[in-house]
Amino acid sequence: MLDLANIRDELAKHYDLAPNPELASQMGDIYARMDRVVNPVDWAVHAPYVAAINKLKAEKNAVILAHNYMTPEIYHGVADVVGDSLQLAIAATKVEADIIVQCGVHFMAETSKILNPEKTVLIPDMAAGCSLAESITAEGVAEMRARYPGAPVVSYVNTTAEVKAASDICCTSSNAAQIVAALPEDTIIMTPDQFLAQNVANLVPEKKVVWWAGSCIVHEQYTANDLREYRALHPDTRIIAHPECTPEVIAEADFSGSTSGIVKYVTDEQPKEAMLVTECSMASNIADNLPGVDFVGPCNMCPYMKKITLEKILWSLHTGREEVIVAPEVAGKARRAVERMIDMSRELGL
Ligand code: 13P
Ligand code: SF4
Repeated sequence: MLDLANIRDELAKHYDLAPNPELASQMGDIYARMDRVVNPVDWAVHAPYVAAINKLKAEKNAVILAHNYMTPEIYHGVADVVGDSLQLAIAATKVEADIIVQCGVHFMAETSKILNPEKTVLIPDMAAGCSLAESITAEGVAEMRARYPGAPVVSYVNTTAEVKAASDICCTSSNAAQIVAALPEDTIIMTPDQFLAQNVANLVPEKKVVWWAGSCIVHEQYTANDLREYRALHPDTRIIAHPECTPEVIAEADFSGSTSGIVKYVTDEQPKEAMLVTECSMASNIADNLPGVDFVGPCNMCPYMKKITLEKILWSLHTGREEVIVAPEVAGKARRAVERMIDMSRELGL
């Protein structure tokens, strides 16, 4: 586990990280992207970290790939590329810089390493896991294959490299239904998200979809009843849910899509009120771009995503740690499954 007190002491020897209102105001162009959701006092705390990270990134020839669930100061302050899991995977294949700092969870960093093995891939906190990735091993995949002989295994990218290596193809929330529909077999095994699989089964009724019983600890908490109660009080609110929610929740929503699908829907539709049934930072990150939209209702935080902070990103760039390594024989097989997904998404025009 990272020793935060030690990290703070070490960083203080090399960088001036004291809250700095003057620097914060000099960096007003960056702050303007998040001033609806980050107050000026917090920005004065973040600004020295943002300045130090951006300088170090240039010195070390590094890029930051950040998931849509990163906090606004990361998303708007230091990220070079932001996106959903599929967009970040595709971006990783195109990185020319020497170092990728993955601001997201461990399976995302592994995916970048699998797709661009020549690069050094760093994650600011190795403990940034995922309840879905932790729910299944390669043995679990073998168990499913034994239960459904001949059925292909479609594994969500929210899995370890070993699970990807044991699968036929990967998917993300933005292409799962289309990939399942495009496979020639009638029975499809989906791992490890039971709710994503059930939502896909509802969208692709011509297939028999069977699933592993994993779930996302963030999205499984929402209930259809919560949404119904909310809608009764606020009938005009647009409800937008991530497909890791239960099918009952998805049935209550006006739209369901990947995190970038959610951004696109709200940007295109510009509803007066929107409730994003997903991780809390999603709404914060798009609030400044959409001043006419009121983001309402509850949200849940992903404790894994929230392990990534500016302080740990600076530490990671400063020390070159923690490096994500994938054994070459596992990486080769996992790459086949991820690249097959990317190729199929392209062929399907996604
Ligand atoms: P997206 O691919 O939609 O960004 O989802 C990743 C994730 O972990 C959502 O919980
Ligand atoms: Fe995993 Fe859920 Fe967190 Fe996404 S939100 S990283 S699926 S635990």
